[in-house]
Amino acid sequence: MKKKLLSALLSAAMVATLLVGCGGAAPAATAEAPAATEEAPAAEAPADDAAPAAEATGAGKKVAVAMPTQSSERWINDGANMKSQLEELGYEVDLQYAEDDVQAQVAQIENMIAAGADCLVIAAIDSDALVNVEQQAKDAGIPVIAYDRLLMNTDAVSYYATFDNKGVGTKIGEYIVEHCEATPDAPKTIELFMGSPDDNNAHMLYAGLMEQIQPLLDDGSLICKSGQLEFDDNNTLRWDQQTAMKRCEDILTRYYADEDLNIIASAFDGLSYGCMSALEGAGYTDANWPMITGQDAELMATKHIISGKQTMSIAKDTRLLAAKCVTMVQAVLEGSEPEINDTTTYDNGKIVVPSYLCEPVPVDQSNYKEVLIDSGYYTEDQLAD
Ligand code: BGC
Repeated sequence: MKKKLLSALLSAAMVATLLVGCGGAAPAATAEAPAATEEAPAAEAPADDAAPAAEATGAGKKVAVAMPTQSSERWINDGANMKSQLEELGYEVDLQYAEDDVQAQVAQIENMIAAGADCLVIAAIDSDALVNVEQQAKDAGIPVIAYDRLLMNTDAVSYYATFDNKGVGTKIGEYIVEHCEATPDAPKTIELFMGSPDDNNAHMLYAGLMEQIQPLLDDGSLICKSGQLEFDDNNTLRWDQQTAMKRCEDILTRYYADEDLNIIASAFDGLSYGCMSALEGAGYTDANWPMITGQDAELMATKHIISGKQTMSIAKDTRLLAAKCVTMVQAVLEGSEPEINDTTTYDNGKIVVPSYLCEPVPVDQSNYKEVLIDSGYYTEDQLAD
């Protein structure tokens, strides 16, 4: 039964992902719309009649899902997957995006509590900024589940569904070490573009990456000419593409006037796009284009991998993450036991949050078909142009 349910969930999620994927660009976040409450495109029931119907155990219960932004593809997919999988089980879903505006997310969660949510699922913009509102939820007896980003400094969170966040950094680092062909006699230059300092995931990724590349920095195989190797110097607030572009432009002008930048260790596809614009502006061509990493294997990033503009990314199957999170919702609302595979890593400063870590998978030209097309995450048509 469990297997059948998961397959129904995945097939619903796959349809949602494809619908969203075909639906064009996400609306850009604008300064004029600070309290955006727009929902992601509605996910529809799977057309596949053969898919077994999921047992509707959630009737009469409302699950509120607070997502950070629609400016990046992954969160649109996450929201659509959560909505369709929860609705499949009979839950009413209140899905809201806050367009990377911290105060808007606080207000949305307050409204969700006031509107009678039975459970809150939160992917935070600023993981520290929600302490008060999480306490309000706890006082009202509403369980909270952290989605992908750990909720910091609160004991109001029951479970955490995520990917192995340090593992993402480790895999990016391993990829660089294996493919960069740098030696102390023939060194390569590298610059780091890390994630948002208010997101615990960004710190873990950085730790995993540095563990891998530090030996090559130490023996002189890799050289960071800007010297910006500390997280404090190479992070990107809100994972913002424009911020990464400007920092990359500045680095290229100041440190790479006479020498090429060979490797960009980017923590997110959006940051990689920003760096690509900076490189193009500085006159880089196919002849001296650097190795560029990323994270999320967004549709555009995957197209860039196929064309050679981006070297690799980290695929995170948001259908699976949503399915794991849904089992946590069921646990807190129906008293079932969710599958947990980590009870030690995610100390949020108040408690160690029981977690399920999905596996991130590195993708490049050699395996994107197998990882992203054969799994139904993207269709060949989506990747064609
Ligand atoms: C997520 C990444 C994502 C990044 C930017 C992180 O919290 O784990 O998958 O690329 O946020 O949205």
